[in-house]
Amino acid sequence: MQSDPLFTPLKLGAVALKHRVIMAPMTRMRSAQPGNVPHALNAEYYRQRASEGGLLITEATDITPQAQGYRGTPGLYSAEQIAGWRAVTDAVHAKGGFIFSQIWHVGRISHSSLQPGGALPVAPSAVRPAGEHTDASGQNVPYETPRALEEAELAELVSDFVTAARNAREAGFDGVEVHGANGYLLDQFLRNGSNKRTDRYGGSIENRARLLLEVVDAVIAALGAERVGVRLSPWNGFNDMSDSDGEALWNYIAAELDKRELAYLHVVEPRSDFTTDLPPDANARDATSHFKSFFKGPLISTGGYVAETARAAVAAGRADAIAFGRPFISNPDLPERLRIGAAVTRYDRATFYGGDHRGYTDYASLAGETNQDVLAALPRQSATDKIFAWVP
Ligand code: FNR
Repeated sequence: MQSDPLFTPLKLGAVALKHRVIMAPMTRMRSAQPGNVPHALNAEYYRQRASEGGLLITEATDITPQAQGYRGTPGLYSAEQIAGWRAVTDAVHAKGGFIFSQIWHVGRISHSSLQPGGALPVAPSAVRPAGEHTDASGQNVPYETPRALEEAELAELVSDFVTAARNAREAGFDGVEVHGANGYLLDQFLRNGSNKRTDRYGGSIENRARLLLEVVDAVIAALGAERVGVRLSPWNGFNDMSDSDGEALWNYIAAELDKRELAYLHVVEPRSDFTTDLPPDANARDATSHFKSFFKGPLISTGGYVAETARAAVAAGRADAIAFGRPFISNPDLPERLRIGAAVTRYDRATFYGGDHRGYTDYASLAGETNQDVLAALPRQSATDKIFAWVP
């Protein structure tokens, strides 16, 4: 029998994986309050999803209080948070798994009610994103026009990323993933729809990429490149992002990152919109293949994968590993299910963001690790997920 391409070893920098089914970073907004501290419930969630030789990437984690954009997202800047994360990493390591912390700053995707001192959110430029955002009280309100960061503040931002990365190691993480994707601060600098600066951090592609590369280089200097990954979402319009010449921008960034011997580059495919349940857009461009021609290190691809498409991507050498988002929410033992071809449980979108254990730690594994009575009491969960009939 031929070996399964998803279940072969892979080295991502300092970690030696036993399989290539990775858990994608997912914001779940369930840290303990006050203080945005990871707690026992979060440790149980990650423990359930850990597997021997498998990699989990955490939900995006605030590098400072200013970095926060949603209620209940955890941070990595206080002693309590580091201790809380330590319980998470210990639980994952006890199962033979690996875990990276995704470190972020949301930039303009925030609201003054979530910011220290009620200040305006910050951004490369005072460009208001279209649409609405949820404020600290849970109301949907129009976005505010952010405050453009002073050039002098950017060095401090770089050092905030470094401090968070060091804190991640102190908390026992195997490495960090720098969040350069999905329209948050570093992505806002990259693209000229949101970056209108006229200093060294705006204008040309080299200037717009400067902050991301400075952050990456500084985090590499602190942790070693073999413990640093980077996530990007090329050609993705989420959070009102746009660029006038994406091709040139992404080619430049891919080539620059290639020089840095990262643990991995993580590409979010533009074909899939995780805010809907629609099947992936078959006409969207194949960002992973595009990046593979510029970036020679390990490449993780995410976005609308099912078992067959994940296997095909790895078998064809388009990607080295596949990260699954939504399927990992409702299938704590997703790698095992994919390995044996078991049915995959449907996720419940209503419980993605915030709340308690429901829709979080009560999804059953095949081994019946989770309390079936709790599951049965949840009417929204059905057996096999229809979205897994997609043929992207
Ligand atoms: C996400 N995604 C995401 N991405 C990221 O880089 N940091 C994050 O914190 C989050 N948060 C998040 C929360 C939830 C509830 C979902 C569903 C998604 C995006 C995620 O990592 C992934 O790229 C998409 O979900 C697409 O993969 P799937 O779901 O099609 O496998």
